Amino acid sequence: MTDTSTQTGTATPFAPLHDPSTRGFASDNYAGIHPEVLAALVAANGGHQVAYGEDVYTARLTEVLGEVFGTGVGVFPVFNGTGANVLALQACTPRWSSVLTTSSAHIHVDEAAAPERVGGFKVNVIDTPDGKLTPELIRAYPARVEDEHFAQVGVVSITNSTEVGTVYTPAEIRAIADLVHDLGWVLHLDGSRLSNAAAALGVGLRELTTDAGVDILSLGGTKCGAMLAEAVVVLSPERVHGTTFLRKQSMQLASKMRFVSAQLLALFEGDLWRRNAEHANAMARRLADGVAGIEGLELPHEVEANAVFPILPRESSERLMESFRFYFWDEASGQVRWMCAWDTTEGDVDRFVEAVRAELG
Ligand SMILES: Cc1ncc(COP(=O)(O)O)c(C=O)c1O
Repeated sequence: MTDTSTQTGTATPFAPLHDPSTRGFASDNYAGIHPEVLAALVAANGGHQVAYGEDVYTARLTEVLGEVFGTGVGVFPVFNGTGANVLALQACTPRWSSVLTTSSAHIHVDEAAAPERVGGFKVNVIDTPDGKLTPELIRAYPARVEDEHFAQVGVVSITNSTEVGTVYTPAEIRAIADLVHDLGWVLHLDGSRLSNAAAALGVGLRELTTDAGVDILSLGGTKCGAMLAEAVVVLSPERVHGTTFLRKQSMQLASKMRFVSAQLLALFEGDLWRRNAEHANAMARRLADGVAGIEGLELPHEVEANAVFPILPRESSERLMESFRFYFWDEASGQVRWMCAWDTTEGDVDRFVEAVRAELG
């Protein structure tokens, strides 16, 4: 039998099929893997480790996220953000109840009804001017408590940073959490870009979650430099049930979990999450500052994290899209989304600003 103990892989050359120097402003998911995350994956490779989360990397991740979010938190690595949200929400939503969120929430508009189909609960929404719920908006919602004909709210879900690039402060989250708990509900946070929110405010991850009264968190890694790695973090175990079994039922239990956990360790054991998020945020700031004041371009939202949502003439966007990738956010108003990532460079931003200026000038 061949001794495979020294095999480290094949020497087959692999040429990229794309130009690795090309970057646009379409999404932070368009970026590749941060070299430190890639190095962590390589370090975690080789030999055998117990499958399905009984490995040393997942054990270490549980310790590390315990230090970050508080002792006793439950840590459930998963593959993607939709999976994290659907799993987290299932685990805290009673069978008969619904989730209340904003009309711009990813769980409402960008998860193809996975929450309803896989999670089996209804999502009810509130319109907001800036992607953020407030206690006033929640209080004004006609929740029809005790009305058996209405899907009873059991959970409120907020996103930080929001889908429109705004940021909740710890005090704003605390005010929502207090109301939600008074009403006997649970607070979920979609933290797909939690790192960007914390970096924008100069606070820690715990201040925006555990200390602000969040009960369950979808913690994002992918947009912050991971290849594919998110985690559900249970912050209030007494309000959340069955996460272990629901993760398997929701097809989010990775057999080779060590590689998901290693990515999250690379981000959260040190300060890589903050470095990457601060950089992406700074690039969005540079972009917003660069285009501010250009006639024919409007910036309706504060640029607080790594996204810019300007409104400009549709034909101008279409011409710019021929050279720089980005998407329409709202076809009707001509609003577009420009997203910066951990690998966006100052040169990328400056070239784009020049192109916008030339187009509108
Ligand atoms: C706010 C928010 N939540 C969750 C996700 C996760 O989505 P995915 O399932 O594509 O990883 C995204 C991705 O764009 C997002 O923007």
